[in-house]
Amino acid sequence: MAIRPIVKWGDPVLHAPAAPVTERDESLRTLFRDMVETMYAAPGIGLAAPQIGVPLRVIVIDLSVGKDPSQLIQLYNPEFLSREGEQKEDEGCLSIPGHYGSPARPAQVVVRGLDPEGVERTYTATELLARAFCHEIDHIDGLLFVDRLSPLKRDLVKRKLRKKAKAGWDE
Ligand code: NI
Repeated sequence: MAIRPIVKWGDPVLHAPAAPVTERDESLRTLFRDMVETMYAAPGIGLAAPQIGVPLRVIVIDLSVGKDPSQLIQLYNPEFLSREGEQKEDEGCLSIPGHYGSPARPAQVVVRGLDPEGVERTYTATELLARAFCHEIDHIDGLLFVDRLSPLKRDLVKRKLRKKAKAGWDE
């Protein structure tokens, strides 16, 4: 297992749709293990493969950040079966350190995907877990939470992010 560097806003891999996983092989198992370890080390409650530079549709989520093994969700090729209602709460992202925003998200989602063993899993989620699913699935679609802010806020944040990206994200 290895902790991998997290790429930041501005890296092209974060801003393009990722490809579906077509083969469940050893490299996919390694990817899942590395993503979980990287998420816990950050620490974060979710991570998508593009955030470690891998353009594949793979996500991991754990609202307990490793404290409760039953809360770990690992999916490849996840998709929404439904999205209902709306909620708006503060969100951050490991790829945008120091910035927060409140994009509109569905109040409830149903997500289906495949776990590392290739078993189909379906999750019905509300509140923070619903937001986490939306945030991570956005990542594999090439979208970050700042892309979902109002145009005014988005432009303001992006100006700051461009400066940070230029400076190489020294925090
Ligand atoms: Ni993120």
